[in-house]
Amino acid sequence: MTPHENPFRTVLLFGAPGSGKGTQGHILSGIPGLVHLSSGEMFRELDPVSDLGKVFLDFSTRGELVPDDVTVRLWEHHMDKLVATNRFDPRKDTLILDGIPRNAPQAKLMEEYIDVAKLIYLEAKNEEQMVARLHRRALHENRLDDANEDVIRQRFHEYDAESKPILDFYSKDRIYSVDAGQTPIEVMRDVLNGLIGAI
Ligand code: AP5
Repeated sequence: MTPHENPFRTVLLFGAPGSGKGTQGHILSGIPGLVHLSSGEMFRELDPVSDLGKVFLDFSTRGELVPDDVTVRLWEHHMDKLVATNRFDPRKDTLILDGIPRNAPQAKLMEEYIDVAKLIYLEAKNEEQMVARLHRRALHENRLDDANEDVIRQRFHEYDAESKPILDFYSKDRIYSVDAGQTPIEVMRDVLNGLIGAI
């Protein structure tokens, strides 16, 4: 990535599949000064017949994470584009990252680029509730990884094994837990409470 004077002020939206990262990130992006970037969307925008698009489809349709180096390089490329086109001003804006970093190695690779002000942990206490949300979403969005029960279960497995350890990477005082099982508006209220004063 093009070197920047200071790391980007960043909020991480973290949680299991279906916990509402994309939903909350999208709402936050309507607030001036907050810029939302979803790694899942970043991958889904790729041309599916491009080399990287094929790599994404290969891993995501198995419910697995895309390799870290490819993922972080694509993220760097996106950040360069956002900065170059004035959609993200590192001096003024706060970056809302949803889905990335996704494991401790990614957190390490990104450490020099992001200054994590808060990690909002959308804590899903009931996996079945999240699975039901993904099933509902499968009816109106064409996401291949939502269509198959085995793939959904594998995504939860990856989350438990690979992603959850990220909670040990960041200091406890930067982590703010929100009950993801509430209604969207209640989750939003709690997310905002976690952010007020932090950014
Ligand atoms: P990604 O797109 O990040 O998928 P995910 O983590 O499985 O998350 P989801 O999009 O399923 O859930 P979400 O938490 O965003 O919930 P949402 O708000 O949409 O990643 C997909 C794949 O890309 C990965 O498997 C991997 O292959 C690859 N990938 C991505 N990032 C990567 C990385 N960093 N490294 C490597 N690989 C990577 O909500 C879900 C549904 O529930 C929606 O329909 C919504 O309307 C509804 N909903 C939301 N909140 C509520 C609520 N409070 N009450 C009721 N319904 C709700």
